Amino acid sequence: MQLPFSTAIGILAAFSAVATPVAAQSCPQAAQFGVVIVSPTTLSPGDTFTVNANFTCAAQLGVNPQYTDYYIEVPVNNNGHEPPILLARRTLDASSATPLLDSFTMQLPYAYYFANTGYVVMLETTYPVTGTNGSPYSVVGGVEAPITITNI
Ligand SMILES: *[C@@H]1O[C@H](CO)[C@@H](O)[C@H](O)[C@H]1NC(C)=O
Repeated sequence: MQLPFSTAIGILAAFSAVATPVAAQSCPQAAQFGVVIVSPTTLSPGDTFTVNANFTCAAQLGVNPQYTDYYIEVPVNNNGHEPPILLARRTLDASSATPLLDSFTMQLPYAYYFANTGYVVMLETTYPVTGTNGSPYSVVGGVEAPITITNI
């Protein structure tokens, strides 16, 4: 039996859809350096907060973190007196049951903050890439999560 041309195309399309990894489809390019979630997002100095990072999509997109550094930053309209504040310098735990997840809890530093300022928690992911002669070197990519800092 000969299939109508349109049916054959439909079958091909169905097969290629199955062949495409489902997980890769759900990984937006924006997740290439990790996904960072801060909780809660409204904080005063001394408040306890948790940072969760997920590198599942990063790994699928070829980014395998060597170091993960977390800062509070003012990326837009920085007044020149708002340097990045280091929160934590971490490495993923390859021996963990969830080696692509990172989590830590800390208190918001009693730093100098300013009103009406767009603070974010910035995750800076350092990862290896292959150089022109085939040897590895490291580059850094960042992803941010907005926070509001009150009672400053
Ligand atoms: C980590 O990200 C992956 C891919 O988006 C997702 O499937 C998984 O549920 C996430 N894990 C956690 C603990 O959020």
